[in-house]
Amino acid sequence: MMTHTTWTSRPRRIIGIMTGTSLDGIDVALCTIGVENGRHSVVLDAFATFPYSDACLELVQTVLTEPIRAAEVCDLEIALAADMAAAVERLLQEHNVDRADVDLVSVHGQTMWHAPQPHAIGARTMGSTWQATNISALATLLNRTVIGDLRTADVVVGGQGAPLVPMFDLHTLVHPNRTRVALNIGGMANCTILPPTASVDTLVAFDTGPGNVLINAAIRKTYGKAFDTNGDVARAGNVIASMFDELTSHPFYAMEPPKSTGREMFDDAYAAVMVKRYGHPSLPMEDLVRTMTECTAWSIADHIQRYAPKADDVIVSGGGAHNAFLMELLRDRLPTVNVLRSDDVGIPSDAKEAMCFAYLGWRSLAGLPGNIPSVTGASKAVVLGTVSAS
Ligand SMILES: Nc1ncnc2c1ncn2[C@@H]1O[C@H](COP(=O)(O)OP(=O)(O)O)[C@@H](O)[C@H]1O
Ligand SMILES: [Mg+2]
Repeated sequence: MMTHTTWTSRPRRIIGIMTGTSLDGIDVALCTIGVENGRHSVVLDAFATFPYSDACLELVQTVLTEPIRAAEVCDLEIALAADMAAAVERLLQEHNVDRADVDLVSVHGQTMWHAPQPHAIGARTMGSTWQATNISALATLLNRTVIGDLRTADVVVGGQGAPLVPMFDLHTLVHPNRTRVALNIGGMANCTILPPTASVDTLVAFDTGPGNVLINAAIRKTYGKAFDTNGDVARAGNVIASMFDELTSHPFYAMEPPKSTGREMFDDAYAAVMVKRYGHPSLPMEDLVRTMTECTAWSIADHIQRYAPKADDVIVSGGGAHNAFLMELLRDRLPTVNVLRSDDVGIPSDAKEAMCFAYLGWRSLAGLPGNIPSVTGASKAVVLGTVSAS
C-alpha cells in the first residue's frame, strides 16, 4: 500500500464521478490534483456529462419509488457501476488519455436514501445513508483503484454526511478580502460561507433546501418537460401567493445549521401535492412553475441574508446556474451582492461537484479527513470512503 507521503509527492490524475439527485446524467471530471507551495491545487483537464442507460435509470426509479426486492437492489449496484465505467471510458477516449495515467477514480454514487439523523435501527440508534454503485465492480471494469461511499464515515460519527463540498470550497474559493458564498444549485441547493478568515474550525455551510427538484417536478407535471430551460416558463408566470406561503412555511427553512436535505423531504410527490392543491384549469400553468422557482430563490436568498449578511459575492454552480430567470430572482433578492457563475472564477459550473469528489478521494488517499465537523455536525474529522484497489 502506498504511503500518504508517496501519494502527495507528485501531482495525481484523478477522475471524479458525480451523479446528483436530478438524475440528469453522469458527470465525469478528469483533474490534476497536487500540492503547490503548501496549497492544494485542483485543475480540471477534461469534463463531460454522459447519459445513464435506460435500464439503469429504470432501476434507479424503481428502487427509489417502489416496494422492492433484493434482486433489484443487487442489479442496481452493477448497472450503475457499468454505466459509470462506460462514461469514464468515453471521456478518456474523447481526450486521448491513457487509462494507465489515471491514479484514482473517486465516485460519489447515486444517493438512494439519506437518513443521517439518528433513528432506531433495531435496538441501536444510528444514522444511515446510501450512495449506490458497486465500487469493486467499477475498479475491476476500469482496472483502476476506485474510492467511493464518501458519506457513510461522517454519518456514523454523528454527522449529516453532507454537505461535503465545503472542504473543496475552503481550498479553492477563499478570497483575501471579499466574503464569498459558494452556492451549488443541483437537485438540492447548498452553500458555503467563505469570509477571508474562513478556516476548517469555524466554517459554516449547509443545505438551503430544494434547488431544481421542485421546479423540475412542476414543469414535468404541467408541460411534460424535464426542466424549465433558462427559466423561460417561470418568467412568463406570476407568483401564486397562497402557494408561496405554504411552500415557504416548510419547517426545514427555519432550522439552524448544520442541516442537510434530500428527496426524503423535497421530492416529486411533495411537488405533486402542491401542484394539485394550487393548480386550477383557470390558472396559467406557468404560475405553478414561477411559484416553485420563487420558493427556491427565496430560500437561498433568505439563508444568505441570515448567515452571510456581509457577503460580497455569491458564486453559483450546478445546473441551476443555467436558469437565467432564477439567477435574476437571486440578484433582485440580494441587491448588494455580486451574483456570478463559478465559471467566472475559473471553476466550470457544471463540473464543480465532480471536481470536488475527485478532491475528496485525493484527500482520503493522502490520509486527510474530508468532512468538516462544524459543517456536518460530526463528532470528529474522519478520513472518508471505501477503497477498491486495482
Ligand atoms: N439551461 C437550463 N435552464 C434551466 N435549468 C437547467 C438548465 N440546465 C440545467 N438545468 C437544471 O439543472 C439540473 C441539473 O443540475 P445538476 O447540478 O446536474 O444537479 P444534480 O447534482 O442534482 O444532478 C436540471 O435538472 C435542471 O433543472
Ligand atoms: Mg447532475
